[in-house]
Amino acid sequence: MIPKTHHNRAAEMRNIPTRWSAACLALTLIASIALAARKPGKDDGPGAQLSKAPARARSLPNPFMGQSEAAAAGRKLYQQHCAECHGSDGHGLDYAADLHSPAIQDAPPGALFWALRNGRIRKGMPSWSRLPDQQLWQLVTYLKTLH
Ligand code: HEC
Repeated sequence: MIPKTHHNRAAEMRNIPTRWSAACLALTLIASIALAARKPGKDDGPGAQLSKAPARARSLPNPFMGQSEAAAAGRKLYQQHCAECHGSDGHGLDYAADLHSPAIQDAPPGALFWALRNGRIRKGMPSWSRLPDQQLWQLVTYLKTLH
């Protein structure tokens, strides 16, 4: 090992601010690119997905609308299948949608049913088509109690 001379150390000290600001610049750039990529577009969010439900699906009535037994069954299914991403209170964890949001609370039950069945795999929402329709409607009934 060669002992550092004063000269070397001084040169190093002069370099620190330059390196520091280069690192800051790089970080700022990365952060702004990431932010731009995350900026909500028209294709984003649960509202966008729910508005894509075909008219036929949207107009399907919920056979359990407002029935507390169905809501209780839906709540159980929710804790089993959904809470890991949407949180046990439905407020959403990480990037999963907040199920209390107006986009979801104002959506027609048929659109929610359709969204559960199809999921939105590209955005991380799984398809629940393996659940029987009855359970999907129970889930929709429960979701509608979350406001
Ligand atoms: C693996 C994580 C995950 C699980 C499990 C999950 N979701 Fe989602 N869910 C998401 C994500 C992520 C979104 C946001 C998708 C988007 O940007 O449109 C979402 C969106 C939604 C939406 C809005 C419609 C849409 O497609 O955007 C509803 C309603 C919903 N989830 C309900 C549920 C219910 C009910 C369950 C349980 C049967 C469930 N989710 C399970 C991750 C999950």
